[in-house]
Amino acid sequence: MEADIRALLDLPIDPGTVKRTLGRSMFAKNLCYFGCVGSTNDVAKNLAASGAPEGTLIVAEEQTQGKGRLGRRWISPGYVNLLFSVLLRPNILPDRVFSLTMIAAIACADAIRTLSGVHAKIKWPNDIYVERRKLGGILTEFKASVEKVDYVVVGLGINVNWSPEDRDEVLYPATSILAETGRYSSRQDLLVQILKDLETDYKILMRGDVESFYKRWNELCCIRDRVVQVDMGEKELKGRVLRIDRDGALVIRKQGGEQERVLWGDVSVQWEV
Ligand code: BTN
Repeated sequence: MEADIRALLDLPIDPGTVKRTLGRSMFAKNLCYFGCVGSTNDVAKNLAASGAPEGTLIVAEEQTQGKGRLGRRWISPGYVNLLFSVLLRPNILPDRVFSLTMIAAIACADAIRTLSGVHAKIKWPNDIYVERRKLGGILTEFKASVEKVDYVVVGLGINVNWSPEDRDEVLYPATSILAETGRYSSRQDLLVQILKDLETDYKILMRGDVESFYKRWNELCCIRDRVVQVDMGEKELKGRVLRIDRDGALVIRKQGGEQERVLWGDVSVQWEV
């Protein structure tokens, strides 16, 4: 019942309006909108394999197979949150793909702040956090040969008009823009703002100017100076986060004072220490 009322308060996304508002944007050229779909990332990857152009945008109101990082599920009720993926065909080496997650996270945090005033931050490598709670996540998937990227799909899930404490399946402390502000937000406006910011940053990145993004990523990073535990599968590591370096790695000072760079892993934060 409550979900019905929320759906009325935030109308379904109107793809025609999104296209019009985006104007000449690369993301307005091939927009695919679904009421319900398995996973927008999977749709984008299938379209990529059949030659869809850069900028293809997949938006869904609901997913039945929403995917998170490390094989996890992404849980979201329908018509209350933002669920979308963009297809990019960047001319970069495979080891630079992380920079696309980086600019997507910056675009999300910036757009959320601009439209709702919520101080969204980035939890390396791909989470959007407010204080100690997760507001959104990014799943980047790509296909590449040794020296060339064929495509990159960047999928974003953002809790907008949903109070995640309603659900038991959510594994981590979660929040939403509604929970943070007490107000419903237009998912459509947020989508457009993120895409505009992302396009601007993508063009800057493709010109080779990555420097300003590292600075911004570090500024927005909510785990700097925090003690973290990183699960890297075969190995676990504990230490204090110093910074994110130019390769996108998390630089950690371990208990003995020695520094180690972490390129991937699942990060648990000890917020109190
Ligand atoms: C994470 O935090 O682990 C990443 C979550 C990414 C979720 C989004 S929702 C839209 C897109 N489609 C998916 O199946 N996943 C991403």
